Amino acid sequence: MATIVPLFLAIPLFMLFIGPHLIANRVFVAPMAGVTDRPFRTLCKRLGAGYAVSEMITSRPDLRDSLKTSKRLNHDGEAGPIAVQIAGTDAQMMADAARYNIDKGAQIIDINMGCPAKKVCNKWAGSALMQDEALAIGIMQAVVAAAQPHGVPVTLKMRTGWRADQLNALPLALAAERSGIQMITIHGRTREMGYGGVAQHHTVAEIKSRVRVPVVANGDIDSPQAAAWVLKQTGVDAVMIGRAAQGRPWIFREIHHYLQTGEHLAQPLVAEVKRLMLEHMQDHYGLHGPDVGVRSVRKHLGWYVKDLPGGLAFRSAFNQLNDAEQQLRATTDFWDQLAQLGDRLPDPVLNAAETIQ
Ligand SMILES: Cc1cc2nc3c(=O)[nH]c(=O)nc-3n(C[C@H](O)[C@H](O)[C@H](O)COP(=O)(O)O)c2cc1C
Repeated sequence: MATIVPLFLAIPLFMLFIGPHLIANRVFVAPMAGVTDRPFRTLCKRLGAGYAVSEMITSRPDLRDSLKTSKRLNHDGEAGPIAVQIAGTDAQMMADAARYNIDKGAQIIDINMGCPAKKVCNKWAGSALMQDEALAIGIMQAVVAAAQPHGVPVTLKMRTGWRADQLNALPLALAAERSGIQMITIHGRTREMGYGGVAQHHTVAEIKSRVRVPVVANGDIDSPQAAAWVLKQTGVDAVMIGRAAQGRPWIFREIHHYLQTGEHLAQPLVAEVKRLMLEHMQDHYGLHGPDVGVRSVRKHLGWYVKDLPGGLAFRSAFNQLNDAEQQLRATTDFWDQLAQLGDRLPDPVLNAAETIQ
């Protein structure tokens, strides 16, 4: 006979700390370059994400004053702890980057060892570091030595390995713990997989069973049930959500609620999503400025509306608008029209079925 395990047993009962910082809950938003800027992180935290890490910031000092990096360094009004992810290939440069970001307000430093992008990998940063364990360990030790005097914990985000026959996340996790790393996040894919295939969470489970520091599972977690399943199967301390939060930042409260109660929240009210989206857009223009902002906000808008009735047509029209006021007005009109179909957002599954017919 099947054993019925109460859902809450999937959630570890002790509190979760990263160094001295008590973390609000076990559902995190993943760092995504070009997506999780300060406005989006703030929104995710307001809607239930327990923790967020900045988009990766290069460790190169010559790029510190570039517009892109300075925007990534912006944490104005963001609820703490402020976690900044750094990427690079040189241990001393990474240590300097840690000190620089701590000086700018970082309370946690995260080392990027997961990014598969060529731009990063050609320079042996991101997931490419996993191919050179000695260099990876040297970087971890140097960054921990730089951050420790400031009482700032250092965390690591990596993949399962470079490719299927080089799955070295476990030895690296053990080395990370010995180096003083205080939390390890694993995206359950190799570098070779990119974003294809399916995340392999059993590697994460093995690592969780072998280290004492908190372990976070990441990859393909796109629903409350998936989050509960991964927590239960792997015993990890938290789950991290990336792409599923694009255009759906309320996924964090949905997951949190399900983990607490075993019940699903109703779809959000159209009026609430309208307000959230308009606030998000204003905040986005505020950070990126009117010229860049009207262009870069388009991807967020596309994600918000992609599964909604009339969403694709609206997105095409919106992408022609080059003025923030026009974008805000068009968005308001879109939501007002949607509100005529019902108070709540249509169920995405039902809507997909409608689209197919
Ligand atoms: C657009 C995009 C940008 C990303 N940028 C970063 C980054 O800056 N740092 C990082 O560690 N991972 C980055 N990632 C990887 C995500 O943090 C995450 O590991 C990956 O998307 C798998 O999680 P998911 O299936 O929940 O999306 C990025 C992913 C995407 C889709």
